[in-house]
This record gives sequence, C-alpha cells and structure tokens, in this order.
Amino acid sequence: MYNVEIVGTGSFVPENRVSNEDISKFVDTSDEWISERTGIKERRISTKENTADLAAMAARSALDDAGISPEELDLIIVATVTPEHFTPSTACLVQAKLGAYKATCFDISAACSGFIFGLTIAEQFIKTGLFKTALVIGAEVLSKIVDWNDRSTCVIFADGAGAAVLKRGVQGIISEVTGSDGNGAESIACHAVPLKNKFCDFSKDKANYLSMNGREIFKFAVKIIPECIEKVLEDSGYSIDQVKHIIPHQANIRILDAAAKKLQINKERFYVNIQRYGNTSGASIALALDEMSKGGLLRNGDLIILVGFGAGLTYGAMMLKWTKDRNNNEEENNDAHNG
Ligand code: COA
Repeated sequence: MYNVEIVGTGSFVPENRVSNEDISKFVDTSDEWISERTGIKERRISTKENTADLAAMAARSALDDAGISPEELDLIIVATVTPEHFTPSTACLVQAKLGAYKATCFDISAACSGFIFGLTIAEQFIKTGLFKTALVIGAEVLSKIVDWNDRSTCVIFADGAGAAVLKRGVQGIISEVTGSDGNGAESIACHAVPLKNKFCDFSKDKANYLSMNGREIFKFAVKIIPECIEKVLEDSGYSIDQVKHIIPHQANIRILDAAAKKLQINKERFYVNIQRYGNTSGASIALALDEMSKGGLLRNGDLIILVGFGAGLTYGAMMLKWTKDRNNNEEENNDAHNG
C-alpha cells in the first residue's frame, strides 16, 4: 500500500456578500437572532457562477498551490448536493474546464460530509496504486435549493467551493471514519423528481426546496462529532492533546460549543469561519482547510482532524499529519511504497 498526502488546497467563494441585515429585509428575522443561534454574520450568494464554475476556480487554486498541472490528474471527485445536472456530473464539467483529460471523473452525494467522503475515496485509489494524483472538490450553490421565504433555512445555507490535491507520498492521511444513517433521511432533505412516467404517476406536490428539522440535526451533530473524533483518535493511537487543530463542518457555532464540552476540550480547538461564509455544506471543511493553510496556520507535522456530518444522514472524520510544505519528489514517493 502507498501513503497518501495532501499537497495543495484551494477555495473560491462568490463575490456577492449577503449580511444578516440584508436577509432581514425579506424574511422576519434579525442579525441578533441569526448571530446568537448560529454564529453566522454574513455569507456569499452566487449571482453569476453555478457549481462547476465555483468548483473549477477552487480546483485551479489547489493545483497552483500543489504545483501540479491538470494533465497529471488521474481522478477528479466533486462532492456536491447542488450539481447543475442529473447528468453529466459536475466533475466532468470541471474536467473540461481544467483540461484534465486523463482523469476519471465522478460526483458523490454525501452532503456536508461530502469532502471527507471524497478524500476517503480518493485515498483508497491512491493507496492501492491504481492512481497517483487526485483532486477532491467540495462545491455548492445551495442558494438554488433554499426556499428564500423560509427563515429557518435561508439564513443558514450559502455558496462556495474548496479543493484539495492528493498524491502518493509520505503518510499524510493517518486514519478515517465514515458512516451513514438513512433512517434520518427526512431530517434534512431536498426532493428531486418523483416517480412519474407514462405508466404511473405517484408525484406529490413536494417543493424542490431544502427542508430541515433543525433540532433533530442539532442533537445528531452534538452526538456524532465527538464519536467520530474519538474513533479516528483510537485508530491512530494519538490523544486529543496531541491534535493541533480540529476543522469541523461549519454548521452552527453552538453545535461546536456543545461538542467541545462533550469532548472536554477548549472550544477554541475548533477552527471557525462560519461567521463569514455560513453553511456551505460539502464545501465548508475544504474552504476552512484552505483558509488555514493559506493563512499560515498549519505547520508541517501538525496533527489535524477534519470532521463533518450532514444530510443522509452522513458523518465522517479524518486524521491528517500536515506535510504540504515539505519538498516532495519521486524518490521520496518511491521510498514511501511499503507494500
Ligand atoms: N429568525 C427569527 N426567528 C426564527 C428564525 C429566524 N431565522 N428561524 C426560526 N425562528 C423561530 C422559530 O419560528 C421559533 O419560534 P417560536 O418559538 O415562536 O415557534 C424560534 O425561532 C425557535 O426555533 P427553533 O427551531 O427551536 O430554534 P433553534 O434554537 O433550534 O435554532 C437552528 C434553529 C436551525 C439555528 C438550530 O436548530 C440549528 O442550527 N440546528 C442545526 C441545523 C444544521 O446544522 N443544519 C445543517 C446540517 S449540515
């Protein structure tokens, strides 16, 4: 088996900033309510770009950061619940935009856990030797599926994209956990097309908007975040005190406060940027990782845990050792082949 590391990150958000005050002009809400209940102050809402556009911008930034050309990519995975088409996949659209013609491309649907699921899938391909280089993107234009008259959801969700380039190399990815609970499918959902054809019509007049049972999701998140973190710690053999940063899905500041309390750690250990971007689902962890990396917050050797949860229900975590800033070359890659 080969070792796998992250060698570059990137992100992109639409230009259009929407503050809590802006939202309070068209639904009955306030900056005070949104800030206190969620931690969100503003978010980016696309007026130009669709999902593949955001994804490609984040991808270019990650490839630049990694010093890798699109032609070197063997695999492109886009984690999204807001693709532009049922088919083709957003990943194929990104491939064409980048000119990454060698890559195998597909999308995955795991909502806010999508980036962790994507990293885990890409890792398996590289570990086994089938591929050397992969691009994983989390990209969402949630503003397309949000009901802008529903104050319980429109204040939370937003648009953005984040990406990471993975390569065969030294051991960056240490341990991971993924899981799903389909019994919670209706807790947060956006219906697509009902069964309707020439021979039957079971269609119900369900709106194609995101619906959410906020309290259910809150409880689920507070339970699952500590469980996922404890699992990756157990598998890695490290203790929570050795972990430098926890980069969680940015859903709600109060969820993170409660999870920190359960884990008996200082809440400052969780990286938070929800105040600026809201909940960007599959993009949120990737966006935060890139912001930390570009902001100089990550040092080689730092242990980092990524953790997410979301619609499905889905959940996952990954423990990484940060290695990005070390010079990586073919000899070292070959040395790392221990299988
Ligand atoms: N502005 C003002 N009032 C609002 C509001 C808004 N944007 N949204 C809901 N309210 C009202 C409700 O109507 C309710 O009023 P009522 O008491 O008169 O009935 C009151 O606020 C409390 O609503 P409730 O839903 O109990 O609030 P809450 O404290 O649970 O907070 C969430 C709501 C959505 C912020 C919270 O449940 C949450 O964050 N859950 C997790 C959601 C999540 O993370 N989703 C993404 C998963 S990836």
